[in-house]
Amino acid sequence: MKIENCTEEDLPEIISLINQEFPYVSISIEKIRKKIADGKISLFKAVEGKRLLGFIEAEFLEEGIARINGVTVKPGERNQGIATALVEHTLEFLKKRQVKRIILLVKQGNEEAKSIYRQKGFKFIGLYHREIDQAVVEEMELDLSGEEEKPSYVS
Ligand SMILES: CC(C)(COP(=O)(O)OP(=O)(O)OC[C@H]1O[C@@H](n2cnc3c(N)ncnc32)[C@H](O)[C@@H]1OP(=O)(O)O)[C@@H](O)C(=O)NCCC(=O)NCCS
Repeated sequence: MKIENCTEEDLPEIISLINQEFPYVSISIEKIRKKIADGKISLFKAVEGKRLLGFIEAEFLEEGIARINGVTVKPGERNQGIATALVEHTLEFLKKRQVKRIILLVKQGNEEAKSIYRQKGFKFIGLYHREIDQAVVEEMELDLSGEEEKPSYVS
């Protein structure tokens, strides 16, 4: 299994996965193309040969802040560490882009996803202000700003 950048050819399959897993999201190929062209999002895929196994989206929100969206692994490919690998790849990518804070939203009952995020250092910061798909949603964050912190006696 490898993690690669998504290409234009992957977009129809990615849209179909988004529609399957996140039907409440309004998405179209044009919207995704525009966000990629504007540098607002980056998409990565997990592949075995040419077969797409899953994908992840990193979205740049504002200076130093990004959000991880849409982590999805195809049902027959789950529990083999693919989502973990996608998240790890994305964290490295975002760190190289000088991102200092990464946030994400996860449904409260999604224990698989929450266990991955916790293992990567994400912390619960509060409940999202509204339900999504009739589910309570948690907001999690990974604070990377401390990685470069100087000792407190250096001003
Ligand atoms: C969530 C999802 C991306 C996970 O993908 P995956 O490739 O199966 O994930 P991984 O194999 O990397 O890791 C799964 C982890 O969940 C853990 N897990 C599985 N069931 C669990 C449960 N009921 N409670 C707690 N942890 C659980 C596994 O033990 C594993 O952790 P480990 O590596 O420490 O053993 C996948 O289930 C999916 O696509 N779900 C639908 C879309 C979705 O909900 N995306 C997340 C949006 S925030």
